[in-house]
Amino acid sequence: MSPALLLAFLGITVPRVQALTCYSGTLVTVRNSSELPLQWTAKQEEHCEDGWSCQDVLMLIENGPQVYVLLIKDCTQAADHEAVITQHRAGPGLSIASYTRVCRENLCNRLSTSLLLWAPHPPTVTPPALGSVRCPVCFSDGSCQSAAEVTCPAESTHCYSGTLLLNVGHRSGRLRVQGCMSQAGCNLLNGTQEIGPIRLRETCDSEAILTCHQGSMIRISQDLTQKPVAWSTSTEQLCKLGEVCQETLLLIDVGFKSLLAGSKGCSKPGTQDSQTISIHSGPPGVLVASFARFCSYDKCNSAASSSVLLNSLPHPAAPAPGDLQCPTCLSIFGSCTHDSDIVRCPNGNSHCYKGHLAVTGGGLSFPVNIQGCMAQPSSSLLNGTQNIGVFSMIEDHEAIVGAALAPYLA
Ligand SMILES: *[C@@H]1O[C@H](CO)[C@@H](O)[C@H](O)[C@H]1NC(C)=O
Ligand SMILES: *[C@@H]1O[C@H](CO)[C@@H](O)[C@H](O)[C@H]1NC(C)=O
Ligand SMILES: *[C@@H]1O[C@H](CO)[C@@H](O)[C@H](O)[C@H]1NC(C)=O
Repeated sequence: MSPALLLAFLGITVPRVQALTCYSGTLVTVRNSSELPLQWTAKQEEHCEDGWSCQDVLMLIENGPQVYVLLIKDCTQAADHEAVITQHRAGPGLSIASYTRVCRENLCNRLSTSLLLWAPHPPTVTPPALGSVRCPVCFSDGSCQSAAEVTCPAESTHCYSGTLLLNVGHRSGRLRVQGCMSQAGCNLLNGTQEIGPIRLRETCDSEAILTCHQGSMIRISQDLTQKPVAWSTSTEQLCKLGEVCQETLLLIDVGFKSLLAGSKGCSKPGTQDSQTISIHSGPPGVLVASFARFCSYDKCNSAASSSVLLNSLPHPAAPAPGDLQCPTCLSIFGSCTHDSDIVRCPNGNSHCYKGHLAVTGGGLSFPVNIQGCMAQPSSSLLNGTQNIGVFSMIEDHEAIVGAALAPYLA
């Protein structure tokens, strides 16, 4: 027996509920953030079954320069409720917000703007500071292979890569999502399972095993601090579960000669996404600088040339030569002999460096002997740094104060 008949049987009369007409339609679109707020006009109408109400559901997923918009208008059996606005995940980076309302009046589901959920930032508000992590940004029902990369806001320290499974009534769809996030893991939805009639699930499993570019190189030349060299590899490597991609560049320059060592491949599981450019030593003395990136999506270790490091190096106007002279040498696998070139150091140097670095990791293992000018009195090029990206570094050194080099003085 239906509830209405049951009530009639009990002698209670219920007023006949009027069947409503509601706006109806679905809008699914990915827009440039600059196009928001969106406005729309609902035209299509639907006659509901007895007792049903009208609903408005709007979900926005903001992802840096892109916004995914899902709007549903239709008749529903859901209980009436006032407008509810929920922030399921707050930014910076990926964020999800929704608006839902169920009302019982003809054509009352007349939400016509996204403004309630997403107001563009007024131009007077300074945009959030950018950090050093870069992530691909993508919404796609296919693959995210050619997603553009953006620099994330400072608080977004991770790249998210996952798939949302969306279910509305009998229809279901997949939405691949990549973007910046403030936390690691597979938790874009932050516990959200339903938004009105939309059921949501999330999976990131397909990303647990990454493919990374793989290869290593060593170059020795005169002008590696000035001229970028290509840094591509034709090999790819399937990582072990949980491993991330890495790319590391080490540049050592003694003035007339420089060495560039690079490695790309998989790296230790669980390493946090990061990008670091460090100047360990110099100029004006021996320059030791590095670029290291760890990232966690397919083939993300894709820097194409050494300019990722060179562009961040200080390029001071060549300082005038000073009075100090030092034996200068850069020798991989070999040793610096007594007949090292004697070089007049640029102004600002006070010591001569003589030492040895052992570099291992990322498919490379080599010793470098170094002699040259030095500005810091610390007598070390690496100042205790033991890891540069995927390389382990061991330094063995001595520094000789310039005054001890009287024989070399001009
Ligand atoms: C988004 O719009 C802005 C300004 O209209 C434009 O500069 C930018 O290229 C657009 N981005 C995309 C991904 O279309
Ligand atoms: C996740 O959800 C909880 C509870 O709904 C909320 O308090 C929290 O702010 C959300 N986290 C983010 C990052 O939005
Ligand atoms: C060397 O390392 C110490 C301790 O980590 C630090 O305090 C110091 O500033 C560093 N020196 C240079 C020249 O970077």
